[in-house]
Amino acid sequence: MTKRDLTITDNRTGKSYDLDLELGALKAVDLRQIKISEDEQGMMSYDPSFVNTAATKSAITMVDGEAGLLCHRGYSIEELAEKSKYLEVAYLIMFGELPTRSELEVFESEIGRCSVLPQEVETMLRAFPADAHPMGVFISMIAAMGTFFPEARNVDDPEVRMQQVCHLTATVPTIAAYAYRNMADLPFVRPDSELSYTANLLQMLFKDPDRPYKVEPALEKALDVLFILHADHEQNCSTNVMRGIASSKSDPYGALAGAGAALYGPLHGGANEAVVRMLEKIEDKRNVPAYVERVKAGEFRLMGFGHRVYKNYDPRARIIKQVADEVFKVTGPSPLLDIALELERIALEDDYFVSRRLYPNVDFYSGIIYQALGLPVEMFTLLFAIGRTAGWLAQWQELLTDPEQRIARPRQIYTGSPPRDYIPLDKR
Ligand code: CMC
Repeated sequence: MTKRDLTITDNRTGKSYDLDLELGALKAVDLRQIKISEDEQGMMSYDPSFVNTAATKSAITMVDGEAGLLCHRGYSIEELAEKSKYLEVAYLIMFGELPTRSELEVFESEIGRCSVLPQEVETMLRAFPADAHPMGVFISMIAAMGTFFPEARNVDDPEVRMQQVCHLTATVPTIAAYAYRNMADLPFVRPDSELSYTANLLQMLFKDPDRPYKVEPALEKALDVLFILHADHEQNCSTNVMRGIASSKSDPYGALAGAGAALYGPLHGGANEAVVRMLEKIEDKRNVPAYVERVKAGEFRLMGFGHRVYKNYDPRARIIKQVADEVFKVTGPSPLLDIALELERIALEDDYFVSRRLYPNVDFYSGIIYQALGLPVEMFTLLFAIGRTAGWLAQWQELLTDPEQRIARPRQIYTGSPPRDYIPLDKR
């Protein structure tokens, strides 16, 4: 008889169970056979916040947190950031292979064609107050846009899915730029399909409608690399939300709005905004040691530090540091960079951070770059969302075509009151 992978002995009953692993993982449903009596449901695993639970198989992104490695479809993030442009990486992530020249041209032209918003969505965008947070605007507008494309609800049709992939990839930058211009009380600048994805975003953000606008190539390249670095990161919080919503066969607009809401939080994509606010509060690099002491005392977290999966330097943070150098050559140095570098230096020498394996993550330096580009802090998480749209859509497609996936429905361990008699209002 061939030996099974694992034997579990239940000391409550003395029974042993032989189980097989799948791709090195124990299948949680196999635990159900472990029970004391036949009429109970059987054992579950308990894993709040999914610290050690794989919810899917995925062929998109590989993160090796111990080694500090990140690959998309097998290609290292270092090589993609150096050699590709964002739409190539988006194509790779979404469709599995790097595009040929002609495939890329078709994809780029499709994105260019789809980037204009319905007029009604433009009008709705103008209705937000100038102090509305752009992430709130983004989440609302993505959900609202879904109402203009009812066919998107037909998520089992691959052709419909392809249309939505192009449409969302194309319109997310337009919504982002308009959210910014509404905030800054500036007229909207329509997308220009002659420009690259990133150059088009820059002109929609910064162009004076009455004057020609020249995109600075170094800044275009820097922003493009930032989008590549944010394109996907396997089963992170917002992607998990995207998949969770999509598992009920909701349309991709609702799912992407939900993913955006998850990204907004300061422990996830909102960290880039929080980092710059933190650096501004520290004010001077001489104040860094005292700030770090307060972090160690548990008063607050060091934003842009730590990661659930990386227990080594986040490879994206290393690339972003190089991008920052290129940006500052054009824009002049950022006064916040010195504080950030000092914070990193002190933290990486301190036992609190060393023993917990806390390193700078992708959000630590990205905000300083967005600020150097001339964007207000409220816009930073929205720039993360633009890059991450490729990953959200790739994971959405993967979920819908995975025969093992069903509606997401975690279990719970009930800790409330046992059944009891209802007490009428006048007797309470
Ligand atoms: N500053 C100070 N202490 C920290 C930090 C931090 N940034 N991050 C984790 N710790 C401590 C934490 O207090 C805990 O210590 P102890 O064992 O003494 O209780 C230990 O490290 C483990 O932390 P955890 O909360 O169990 O870790 P987690 O995997 O649940 O959280 C995290 C991961 C990213 C939410 C967390 O590191 C954090 O809050 N970082 C700051 C926010 C941030 O930069 N987020 C961006 C993440 S990367 C990009 C993205 O996902 O968008």
